[in-house]
Amino acid sequence: PGAKLYSANCQSCHQATGQGVPGAFPSLTHLDKVVQAKGGREYLIRVVLYGLQGSLTVEGKTYNGVMPPFRQLKDQEVADLLNHVLTTFAKSKAKPISAEEVKAQRARALSPQEVLKSRPPVK
Ligand code: HEM
Repeated sequence: PGAKLYSANCQSCHQATGQGVPGAFPSLTHLDKVVQAKGGREYLIRVVLYGLQGSLTVEGKTYNGVMPPFRQLKDQEVADLLNHVLTTFAKSKAKPISAEEVKAQRARALSPQEVLKSRPPVK
């Protein structure tokens, strides 16, 4: 289910294989490091629910872009989408993200700038 959600919602910016567009849209292949870091699971859920804005350095390249929020997706859809990205593009073996974890982040009403401040310190 995650693959369809990815192509419908994310692929236009992050590209079919999650490699992104250097300087414009970050790649998603490094996200195993993010999900394994303290606070990383919560951060990834927040990026999808609330969007992201501000200066971000990923694998030596700096981005200063705006990612829109996807709060219209259901809790299970956000979980399926992130699990697809993590297993397929980032080759992650982390415990899958659950709909309950997504629900816990939904009540927060964070700005895209606040989401960036909650990013774990991962290059
Ligand atoms: C950043 C995932 C859709 C543009 C990110 C990050 C993640 C992510 C996890 C942060 C990477 C990190 O912190 O290392 C997704 C997913 C999407 C999606 C799962 C589908 C729901 C989009 C779309 C766009 C976009 C459609 C373009 C309209 C961006 C930009 C950034 C970003 C510009 C960097 C923001 C900044 O510079 O602060 N995305 N994305 N994303 N995404 Fe997306």
